[in-house]
Amino acid sequence: MTVERVYAAYFSPCGNVKTAAEAIGHAAAKAMCLPFESIDFTLPQARTVEMVFGPGDLVILATPVYAGRVPNKLMPYIRDHIYGNGALCGAAVCFGNRAFDDALAELYMLAKDNGFTVLGAAAVATEHSFAPTLGTGRPDEADLAALAAFGEALAKKAQKNGPALKTVPGVMPPERYYTPLRADGAPAKFLKAVPRTDMEKCTRCGTCAKMCPMGSVAPKDPAVTTGVCIKCQACIRLCPAGARYFDDGDFLSHRAMLMANYARRAESAFFL
Ligand SMILES: Cc1cc2nc3c(=O)[nH]c(=O)nc-3n(C[C@H](O)[C@H](O)[C@H](O)COP(=O)(O)O)c2cc1C
Repeated sequence: MTVERVYAAYFSPCGNVKTAAEAIGHAAAKAMCLPFESIDFTLPQARTVEMVFGPGDLVILATPVYAGRVPNKLMPYIRDHIYGNGALCGAAVCFGNRAFDDALAELYMLAKDNGFTVLGAAAVATEHSFAPTLGTGRPDEADLAALAAFGEALAKKAQKNGPALKTVPGVMPPERYYTPLRADGAPAKFLKAVPRTDMEKCTRCGTCAKMCPMGSVAPKDPAVTTGVCIKCQACIRLCPAGARYFDDGDFLSHRAMLMANYARRAESAFFL
């Protein structure tokens, strides 16, 4: 099959997945002298449409790792609304320096089940969105070079009609999510935690409401959470006034546990 176009299609509340997916996709497209297009399905409006690919497409499909899996609120969109129709795929997950557990296996299976031929897969070590002392500043220069090399290798494999990737690490189908722990080792229960807003700092600019991937911040009153919060940190990272924060005890304790135990530099893993 001749590849004609390269895409990076990603969910990326805090930007790491976007950076990684685009680095892979750009390098693959450049190696084949082909056009490259980014498709960002982070915001709810972007997920109201079907994403239909076909033969001649190479798609870098990428998500973050949440609790060792593809984010559970995102999974149905990928499962039910992204069609490969014989397109080639590089599956990529970004994890925040702890572990990718079964996330890559889950994304690999979703892509295969949706009609993609998965040529390669990557688990990319990045900065942790809610524990930023983990993997600080990653993807860094060395990571970007490794991502570009992976993109070039994918391009080579695509041009040679290389075989589909047979497997990736992880339980298939995945059976459980990672249980977050508090600093004292007990399970951390913060499913219902929502960000707070310091109304002294808030300028009501609307950024948090506009950028919430779940559409869960009331545009007229950012202190009101109208729906599910996936703790992605987009509103906290993007608030120009620094007015958003979490104060949930279990959430903060889990963050402290991560920072105490996962400070070492995690390695990315590439499969072809
Ligand atoms: C709710 C949540 C759960 C996470 N779970 C994990 C995890 O299980 N393992 C890990 O290493 N990183 C985990 N992370 C970190 C993210 O996978 C990582 O920071 C990723 O790069 C975020 O992508 P983004 O910057 O595109 O939003 C988690 C982050 C969030 C917000």
